[in-house]
Amino acid sequence: MPQKSAKTVETAAEKGVQRCIAADCGASYPLTERIYLCPRCGGTLEIDCHLAASSRNPAELRKTWAARAGSREAIDVSGVWRYREVLPFDEPIPFVTLFEGNTPLYQAARSASYCGLDNLRLKHQGCNPTGSFKDTGMSAAVTQAVALGSQTIICASTGNTAASLAAYAARAGVQAGILLPHGQITPAKLAQSMDYGAAVCEIDGNFDDCMRLVQELGADPSIYVANSINPFRIEGQKTVAYEMMEQCNWETPDHVVVPGGNLGNATALGKGFEELLTLGLIKRLPSLSVIQAEGAAPLAHLFAQLIPAQFAGEAPLPRTMAPVENPRTLATAIKIGAPVSWKKGLRSVMRSGGRIIAVSEQEIADAKAMIGRDGVGCEPASATTVAGIKKLVASGHIGPEESVVAVLTGHVLKDPDYVSHYHRGTLAFDSGAKAGASQQPIAGAFANVPERVAATKSAILASFERRR
Ligand code: F0G
Repeated sequence: MPQKSAKTVETAAEKGVQRCIAADCGASYPLTERIYLCPRCGGTLEIDCHLAASSRNPAELRKTWAARAGSREAIDVSGVWRYREVLPFDEPIPFVTLFEGNTPLYQAARSASYCGLDNLRLKHQGCNPTGSFKDTGMSAAVTQAVALGSQTIICASTGNTAASLAAYAARAGVQAGILLPHGQITPAKLAQSMDYGAAVCEIDGNFDDCMRLVQELGADPSIYVANSINPFRIEGQKTVAYEMMEQCNWETPDHVVVPGGNLGNATALGKGFEELLTLGLIKRLPSLSVIQAEGAAPLAHLFAQLIPAQFAGEAPLPRTMAPVENPRTLATAIKIGAPVSWKKGLRSVMRSGGRIIAVSEQEIADAKAMIGRDGVGCEPASATTVAGIKKLVASGHIGPEESVVAVLTGHVLKDPDYVSHYHRGTLAFDSGAKAGASQQPIAGAFANVPERVAATKSAILASFERRR
């Protein structure tokens, strides 16, 4: 159980400020203010942990973090709180943890050759306690909610944020209020939220409707919003960049590639990498690219329209983004038409020289099966990365010999129906081209169908032989 203390809230203000990212505003607010958008201009907020002015020695930080990896103290075991020097909380931190982070970085030979790369690494964030990358950020957001004394923590979700909030709120003994688009969440994700005791509201609408409602509800003083517009979520999630670089022996990969939904993940990783550079822990930024599903790709559309002056940082970035009215994809986790963190996500990609592109349903499905052949299971949204890397290699943005890390965001068991349909050849996608019609089948190019085999040794051996 976390300890509540007024002192924690008071002293937290010294560890940084919340700052508006709008170039013509830049207003700053104490960490103790329960705000999600800039009260002055409505702009997006981020936390400035005063790391630029920090006199921390990079070698000392590396040593401290490496030593904690061998500790049994809960605050050190957590892959978020281990990096507490760069987080906006003063000790004693009333941290809420399920021992998030510490996720594996796998070499993936088959996926690499599928993409046309010499090698590819997969950072599997689906190995977090609730099976998705949301847990690192949620640990920080729920800790802040507890420090502020909130009664109910809410989120809109396509399923994973919900499961994560439900679990962390349960740990903290606080109510989780969850808004889900009715009928659009995988049964596994919904079951998690139910099991962790959250107040689940199935809303008649899509994710973007739920997000709008969350922003309205957030005005109530008893409520704390845990979506990625909350800058404390981003703080917890940025530690993934620290952990990844530690696993890479502080040698920056050429490219890091993430799926894009609400754009919280791109924002968090981008912030983490920029801080690592500021602190002298790495020598250059990786190029950060974001991959969206074709039917839910508002930022990829916007990116395709950017002019060369914007790439060179000589012209301001766009102020608006046209939403996708009816987002469509079988990767339900990223079925989002109006991502709330698009400005911060776009800024991170632009600063790093990355790309934002879209991939088709067929490309996602085949990439997912290929990742599976490396012995690594992920949910469909995660596979946009490998599908996107294949395209970026083909277009020359990624060189075959460059080092690439794909961030997998969710576990394969988050959506087993999808997997089963793919392999049995029954996966189909409602293209939405004509109302009520056009189910487009998705071919299982790497389908692996179970065989019905007689209960004899010889029949089983023959079956193995056929499929060797
Ligand atoms: N991958 C998975 C498995 C996700 O659940 C999400 C987002 C994303 C990628 C996209 O990440 O939003 O940071 O760009 N899921 C949210 C949710 C929207 O409610 O679980 P993002």
